[in-house]
Amino acid sequence: MLNLGLALAAPSLIARQDQGAVDKKLVVGAAGQILSFQFDGKVFKSISAVNETGKSASWMIFKHPNHLYAVDENSNTLRLFNYDPTTGKLSDKPVAEKTGSPGVVSLEFSLDKTRLLGGSYSNGTVDIWDTSAADGSMKFIKNVTLTGDILNPKQTTHRAHQIVPDPSGRYFAVNDLGGDAIHILDSKKDYTITSTTAVAPVGCGPRHGGFLTANPAPGALPSHYVVLCETMNLIKLYKIDKQADDTLKLTAIQSESSYGPAFPPANATTAAAGELTVANNQRDIYITNRLSGNETDNVSLFTFQHQDGKARIDFKSQISSGGISPRMMSLSVDKDQSIMFVANPMGANGIVALQRNQKCGSLSPLAAVVNTTISNQPGGFGPQFVLEIPAKST
Ligand SMILES: *[C@@H]1O[C@H](CO)[C@@H](O)[C@H](O)[C@H]1NC(C)=O
Ligand SMILES: *[C@@H]1O[C@H](CO)[C@@H](O)[C@H](O)[C@H]1NC(C)=O
Ligand SMILES: *[C@@H]1O[C@H](CO)[C@@H](O)[C@H](O)[C@H]1NC(C)=O
Ligand SMILES: *[C@@H]1O[C@H](CO)[C@@H](O)[C@H](O)[C@H]1NC(C)=O
Ligand SMILES: *[C@@H]1O[C@H](CO)[C@@H](O)[C@H](O)[C@H]1NC(C)=O
Ligand SMILES: *[C@@H]1O[C@H](CO)[C@@H](O)[C@H](O)[C@H]1NC(C)=O
Ligand SMILES: *[C@@H]1O[C@H](CO)[C@@H](O)[C@H](O)[C@H]1NC(C)=O
Repeated sequence: MLNLGLALAAPSLIARQDQGAVDKKLVVGAAGQILSFQFDGKVFKSISAVNETGKSASWMIFKHPNHLYAVDENSNTLRLFNYDPTTGKLSDKPVAEKTGSPGVVSLEFSLDKTRLLGGSYSNGTVDIWDTSAADGSMKFIKNVTLTGDILNPKQTTHRAHQIVPDPSGRYFAVNDLGGDAIHILDSKKDYTITSTTAVAPVGCGPRHGGFLTANPAPGALPSHYVVLCETMNLIKLYKIDKQADDTLKLTAIQSESSYGPAFPPANATTAAAGELTVANNQRDIYITNRLSGNETDNVSLFTFQHQDGKARIDFKSQISSGGISPRMMSLSVDKDQSIMFVANPMGANGIVALQRNQKCGSLSPLAAVVNTTISNQPGGFGPQFVLEIPAKST
């Protein structure tokens, strides 16, 4: 095993490996600021820093040529910034701002990027925006209210924690932490909810998830859905069956501890699983186990296996996130998805780059940015979102 804790605690930028010609441009959302960086495989260089005291861009999404949309989870505004993906430069103010639901924490586009969906944690709604204009401006179309029983006893309302687009483009899953449910929105039915699946046991708290496809084919509907429950630290696998009326039926087939079989958290009371990322190979599933009570938190790898119509997920390995409470992570946009970028709001390292082994999916330390480089709020939260933006549209 590599000495992760020590490597990542070093009080400077660190690197373990030469990368050849790596030139990645990243946007980072932190409390009170939006930052952009260049990463050369070893060192993160600051490009832009937008000061927005009191605001929190905990989620962002990009549309070419230069439209960067950012939530402010502390208010009800959706913001549009100009971002040049070639230079990595960010406008120092939003170029447009619109009012929607309060506390939006997740944004996703329709396949053609003419619609933008925002999931509200505070309000249990999903905002639908028209983003078809060439200047990127947003036109509010409607909001969709999540309904059903509020099952999670720790919650008082529905919470649209994440919107997950299905790769075929038609459906969106909405993980509802308050309602202990996965709602499916159908873009061909005016973005209405056409089915809802309860996520057992009561109090599970589904937070983030991903679609999986056992037999990938262009435009194919995914065969499975995997969801990470924050409140109970469970990872759950569902089989997807499309019904005659085009609704999706989700059937639970497996449930595992997000910590795997042998590594329980030091503090089960505070533990709250966070992010889930599925690699393009449709095999590797990465999750973050947050607030474990240990010196740092971990990123864990599960793999999706399927044979003879039977599918399952298995815990494989884990690695230190280099900090505490890793809220969001994302894979680099190169074909091999060779790097995992992790955002730690607390702890020694704010942004951490982990090298991804394509063969087995395991992660190893590559580089990090210490928290003081990023946090402009002493004792406050550091980065919570990190995303590579490709220079060219794919
Ligand atoms: C950010 O802006 C606020 C006022 O909005 C100001 O008080 C603060 O000093 C600024 N911080 C930095 C790092 O520029
Ligand atoms: C949601 O839509 C309804 C109308 O359907 C509107 O009254 C309400 O203000 C909207 N809520 C938000 C937060 O935009
Ligand atoms: C959602 O927002 C609307 C409009 O601001 C408000 O009327 C409603 O009470 C809110 N619902 C919840 C559950 O917060
Ligand atoms: C995490 O905490 C558990 C229980 O206290 C302990 O067994 C384990 O060694 C800790 N791991 C790390 C990396 O500190
Ligand atoms: C777990 O965390 C809670 C909340 O911070 C704390 O009160 C409790 O003492 C911790 N338990 C352990 C075993 O460290
Ligand atoms: C993190 O992973 C290491 C290596 O497997 C393990 O020793 C440790 O217990 C894990 N810590 C947590 C909090 O899961
Ligand atoms: C920043 O890292 C140092 C250790 O390098 C730690 O003592 C401090 O608590 C961290 N700050 C935050 C806000 O987590």
